[in-house]
Amino acid sequence: MQWPLHGRSRRATPDLGVLAAALSPALVLVACSGQQSALQPAGPGARDAAILWWAMFAGGVVIFALVLALLLYAVLRTPERRRPISIDHMVVGGGIALPVVALSILLAFGLRMGSSTYADLPPDGLSLRIDGRQWWWKVQYLGEDSRLAFTTANEVYLPVGAPVELLLGSNDVIHSLWVPRLAGKQDLIPGRVNRLVVEAEEPGVFRAQCAEFCGLAHTKMALYFIAVSPDEFQEWAERQRAPAALPRTEAETRGAAAFASNGCALCHAVRGHGAWGEVGPDLTHIGSRRTIGAALVANTAENVATWIARNHEMKPGNQMPSYTHLDADTRRAIAIYLESLK
Ligand code: CUA
Repeated sequence: MQWPLHGRSRRATPDLGVLAAALSPALVLVACSGQQSALQPAGPGARDAAILWWAMFAGGVVIFALVLALLLYAVLRTPERRRPISIDHMVVGGGIALPVVALSILLAFGLRMGSSTYADLPPDGLSLRIDGRQWWWKVQYLGEDSRLAFTTANEVYLPVGAPVELLLGSNDVIHSLWVPRLAGKQDLIPGRVNRLVVEAEEPGVFRAQCAEFCGLAHTKMALYFIAVSPDEFQEWAERQRAPAALPRTEAETRGAAAFASNGCALCHAVRGHGAWGEVGPDLTHIGSRRTIGAALVANTAENVATWIARNHEMKPGNQMPSYTHLDADTRRAIAIYLESLK
């Protein structure tokens, strides 16, 4: 069902209001669980943020109860039975002392909690560079030895139980990385590198989302953090470091040729296949990823073939041209080729 932005008739507005009010407790409860819930922390940074949130919530409840009690006192007591309260005391106590004390406690608490976000990294710790692009994520695993370093996109694997340093940058506009179950938000600002340390304490798939409006496809700029055992991580990293597999079947070979002859390599890199473009996501091992289009749809040959021609319907504003001039067979062959790049 489409929700109208503007009610066509005057009667529609109150009906929607009533419906929204009736649904809101359910919506709030739904928002408290799931793979993108800040209230289901799976790492120290997110846990500190959740503790801070609950502390603020508790403080808010106490202050709300206090205000309600004062309101009831004012409304229910008849004027003759009310004890006179000095205006000065109300202003100094409730308007100055209470906020100063409450906000100071909160500031000290918040600063202590925030330190986990900037935790130190062990000498052999894993370091990644993540760049926000309109509208996808470039992910580079850094290593002192250049053979250890590789580039991928829209998916971050990390070993369970180890702090991982994320160096965050951007080369267009300000984005913000938020993996609610692992850490707090951190902005990606052009001309600057921000640092965030995340750690997953349990294996799992954690959805992350760009949390700063960055243009037309901002809401469709997501990625997945996937926490696996250290051994599985090493295996994954070995595969990612390796150049792309050579095409084996007839369809894969035809797809590779179409990929090369239609200029795909001007924007995308496929290491080992002579494609070095850096405008769009690195596709060297795209077949191993869960999604395409920055966590937009499942990574299947069918979706890739559709994306090649109709990506502007799937993700309006994205910078890849729509290859509508390619026939269905060619698009399908390119998709089969890309899916073979595991
Ligand atoms: Cu990138 Cu919003």
